[in-house]
Amino acid sequence: MCGIIGYLGEDQAVPVLTDGLERLEYRGYDSAGIAVFESGGINTIKSNGRLSALREKIREQGTPQGTLGIGHTRWATHGKPSDYNAHPHSGQNGKITLVHNGIIENYLELKAQLKAEGVEFKSDTDTEVVAQLAEKNYNGDLIETVVKTVSQLNGSFALGILCEDYPDTLVGVRKSSPLLAAVCDKGCLIASDITALLPYSEEIYRMEDGEICMFTKSGAAFYDFDGKPIEKSAETVGLNAKSADKNGYEYFMMKEIYEQPETLRATINQYLTSEGRVDLGEASKGFGELKDINRIFIVGCGSAYHAGVVGKYVIEELVRIPVEADIASEFRYRHPILDNHTLVIIISQSGETADTLAALRLAKESGARVMSIVNVEGSTIATESDCVLFTRAGIEIAVATTKAYSAQLATLYVTAVYMAQELKTVDDNEIRNLEHYLAVLPDAVEKALGTKEQAKELASKYYEKDHAYYVGRNIDYAGAMESSLKLKEISYVHSEAYAAGELKHGTISLIEDGTLVIALCCCERLLAKTQSNIEEVRARGAKIICVSTEDNVKALKYDDLLLVPATHPLFVGSLEVVPLQLFAYYAAKFRKCDIDKPRCLAKSVTVE
Ligand code: G6P
Repeated sequence: MCGIIGYLGEDQAVPVLTDGLERLEYRGYDSAGIAVFESGGINTIKSNGRLSALREKIREQGTPQGTLGIGHTRWATHGKPSDYNAHPHSGQNGKITLVHNGIIENYLELKAQLKAEGVEFKSDTDTEVVAQLAEKNYNGDLIETVVKTVSQLNGSFALGILCEDYPDTLVGVRKSSPLLAAVCDKGCLIASDITALLPYSEEIYRMEDGEICMFTKSGAAFYDFDGKPIEKSAETVGLNAKSADKNGYEYFMMKEIYEQPETLRATINQYLTSEGRVDLGEASKGFGELKDINRIFIVGCGSAYHAGVVGKYVIEELVRIPVEADIASEFRYRHPILDNHTLVIIISQSGETADTLAALRLAKESGARVMSIVNVEGSTIATESDCVLFTRAGIEIAVATTKAYSAQLATLYVTAVYMAQELKTVDDNEIRNLEHYLAVLPDAVEKALGTKEQAKELASKYYEKDHAYYVGRNIDYAGAMESSLKLKEISYVHSEAYAAGELKHGTISLIEDGTLVIALCCCERLLAKTQSNIEEVRARGAKIICVSTEDNVKALKYDDLLLVPATHPLFVGSLEVVPLQLFAYYAAKFRKCDIDKPRCLAKSVTVE
């Protein structure tokens, strides 16, 4: 989604801004722009398309000279991607220039009022309304103007603001859309994402909702939305800029696929004692009295939802409490039945996904206990949850998630084992068996990475197919959903996932000679059932890639095989997805797709 960068310091602003925008590219965008305070005023350059188009335009028009500026990558919501809808936007007299992430819900109403007062608009965006409104409110005092303006806005907004009368002032605003700030030797920065700040500083100010920061050459000041000064201190983040480098890999996605064993070790080891026992430590308090829980919801979007579906099978099996996995955008509008006997598990890599955050708030308002599985510390979801189990995936850059998804699965397993142990729904021998398989899961995933060359070969054989169908039952079905999403999001091959037994209720009519069917066959107890479904599509000419474990493969018929190591039957979801991540990667590579930045997609979806 959109990215914000702002800089005020000693160096020229343009390289800092364009470098920052490059680091934000992974979030997904369709146009970009910068505004730099030059001696003659604010110079804005913006362009539809990739950053290379903006760089070209900057070269053509002459690089703006100045040490204060803002920049933006836009993912279109209001108005199509174009030069004129790209940010920054300015008021009609050029007094205020700003960039914005989020959505202004009352923009139509505000726009109508401003138009009635004679303001002329140059774009279709909700953002321009903020710039025009701020300019109308401008009384010579920038903070008063910002305070008045934000009080008139509904919705979510992170803003980076420049004012023509303030040649050495950078203002940032946060409400329900992420914004961070940093002060370093060379000046100060604001950004919507930590990756843009880490090359300059690991001392980060996390802006909270309802806060404004104002940087000048003489220092940093923070205010609330009433304009009252507030104290804020910076925190040192444990990540460093290296995580945002490719380390010799061609794409971040492959680097991140290969980081899965390490991610799993870091994630699981937090919750295993030196004797190998599951222990959630302080976090367990957030669950409250477990015996009072009679229903569990697991809620997320995209791959986080798929992790939730795996979690549903694992928790129900071990804990025997009814679990529903739901998509956050559905959950929040369906009047879910929640009370203080309900546990809601919220899953989010970024901790900022708008629908997931709304689901969390709804759950809290309804009195449910809320536990979150989040990758980004200090994110809104992590901050607002009763209890958080952090995944330790580090920064994930590729839009198609791999290591964060794997870490979410592992955290759900830990949760299930913890609950089973506490509620005694599983005997201690089996708990120890599960703990053993948890401890060795990272090694098993490492072995599964050995399918790389085979996955590449199969991708070279099948990448020209227009359609693919992924099938499986139970946990294999959840793995099918995730693997199918991986293929379609980065290679643009039309792909669907079906519960294997459901295919014959309609979709089988699409299977013809040569149709690619990828069958996930790791759930041992359902193998014979899935094999029957494979036979049904083989009889209609489908080509079958089977993903299975060494123990299970004898029972199967297929055209091609991807073998993963055996594990506990409840943990197969972590292994079967690995060769299919690699398959999707290579299919996208053979189709010459931009693997890390698939078209139209965003890494963190901060709008509804
Ligand atoms: C986007 C990403 C997906 C991710 C989903 C949820 O669609 O492209 O990879 O699974 O958002 O994101 P979250 O940060 O909440 O896990």
